[in-house]
Amino acid sequence: MLVARPVILLLAILIASSNGANILGLFSSHSPSHLIIHMSVAKTLAEAGHNVTVVSMLPPKVTHKDIHVIVIPVTDEQEKVIENQMSEMASQRNSIISTLNRLMNGMDVMINSQADLLSHPQFQQIYDTKFDLMIMGYFLNEFQLGVAAKLKVPVIIDWMNAPMLAIDEFTGNPTEVSYVPNIGTTATPPMGFLKRAENLAKHLFLKYMMSALLSKSERIYEEKFGNDKSLPSLSEAKKNISLAFVNAHLISEGPIRPLVPAMVEIGGIQVKDKPSPLPKDIDEFLSKSTQGAILLSLGSNVKSSSIKPEIVQSIFKVLSGLKLNVIWKWEDPKNTPGSSPNILYKKWLPQDDILAHPNTKLFITHAGKGGITEAQYHGVPMVALPIFGDQISNAQAMEKSGYGLALDLLSITEESLSKALNEVLENKKYEEAVGKFSALYRDRPFSAKQAVVYWTEYVLRHKGARHLQSPVVHMNFIELNNIDVHALIIAILVLVILLLRLVVKFVWNKLCSKSKCTSNKSKKQKKP
Ligand SMILES: *[C@@H]1O[C@H](CO)[C@@H](O)[C@H](O)[C@H]1NC(C)=O
Ligand SMILES: *[C@@H]1O[C@H](CO)[C@@H](O)[C@H](O)[C@H]1NC(C)=O
Repeated sequence: MLVARPVILLLAILIASSNGANILGLFSSHSPSHLIIHMSVAKTLAEAGHNVTVVSMLPPKVTHKDIHVIVIPVTDEQEKVIENQMSEMASQRNSIISTLNRLMNGMDVMINSQADLLSHPQFQQIYDTKFDLMIMGYFLNEFQLGVAAKLKVPVIIDWMNAPMLAIDEFTGNPTEVSYVPNIGTTATPPMGFLKRAENLAKHLFLKYMMSALLSKSERIYEEKFGNDKSLPSLSEAKKNISLAFVNAHLISEGPIRPLVPAMVEIGGIQVKDKPSPLPKDIDEFLSKSTQGAILLSLGSNVKSSSIKPEIVQSIFKVLSGLKLNVIWKWEDPKNTPGSSPNILYKKWLPQDDILAHPNTKLFITHAGKGGITEAQYHGVPMVALPIFGDQISNAQAMEKSGYGLALDLLSITEESLSKALNEVLENKKYEEAVGKFSALYRDRPFSAKQAVVYWTEYVLRHKGARHLQSPVVHMNFIELNNIDVHALIIAILVLVILLLRLVVKFVWNKLCSKSKCTSNKSKKQKKP
């Protein structure tokens, strides 16, 4: 690693000069995959010598001996609601709009629990520590900006996906509707007329939904922080965000679009530079997979058991008939879909390390952003079985890029699954395409980890990065769209036209009275 030397030197100097800040990570999204991304950021900072304290609702899978983790779980009742909602979602088709709608109604516990957390006695403790910075994992939780205001510290937002509407608004980044597909639209830019119309309609609808969710956030903020008059309003606190980390790398993933300097790309932060040693059983299983191995994981939100048994049986029949070995993520070891010498069931998997293994030939995934990123990083082709939310568009984008095939989980049959698996395993074009992506994805001036350390310490050194903010953050809708200026121009134009009309009329009348006008109009006028 010759190129890395100056960078390492530079980093060493930076680390030495910022000697361990106290950083609070507030990661209250009730989703294990979000937590993996946020914890990877926290871990990177702990490794750089910072004193990181994390508050989460789930026990994190990624961790570090020096991170102080405070887990404040949701109540049993809330847990039940979330689980029911998740399995309901697993049994139907879900768009981003229906998912947001659900978050506003039946599943609002995902937001409310993040509000309840703030009043928990264990959370109140954090106000006793003098922090230097807060990193907030974003999940419709704007109201938590009150914590940073109360601690009087700068804020960095961490988002587990490519930049989207809310993150654009935090940073004043332009949301380009005519050529950047939003999270609800699947398209490869440039978009034709119909796609652009679809994207605009969805954009407006998303904007409406997000503003409804923001009003909810404002109500919660008022409730939690409203009685402390020394604190700013939520809209003021929002203007104090220094920068946002987004889990993306547009140069390799697209779409190419402008990003303001406060939007920092850390795509692949959760991927290890070097794979860790695998647990013994998995290592042996993979090593003896001379024909190659398949990794199957349908994610961490949906329990395998909430997928229809018929579908699970179809998957099992196809996989047990393969020559390749299969590692299947399955939560209940007593109740597996069936036993077969080529299938190893595991409750929890070091997914990244398995994907890094040279014998891993294919990844069957629910198309969560995290898993897709890891497979793309390691150049492993995929068969996607998306379930809800952004998974559907992730899967379609993956297929469009040529890294594998996407099937609809609810309608797969033995034939369709078997056909897709054979195609991706036998046709080399998928492996080649994802291999090419992998090379582009790793080719950066700053690795994701270096970017996290550099920009976090940048914000620490300058005690917030307001100078980095786009002026858009401080402008309202009228100013941003120059509506007042346009209104003035139109008013002047209208005035000029009215004046001109008056002048013309005046001159006309003058001329008429002097020289007996002969036009029809004036004749008519003279009749009476
Ligand atoms: C590290 O953070 C914890 C809070 O989690 C705090 O109690 C402790 O004092 C901090 N250590 C230093 C050296 O500041
Ligand atoms: C904004 O952040 C700075 C640190 O960058 C902090 O001192 C200040 O109190 C914050 N102000 C508000 C309104 O949150």
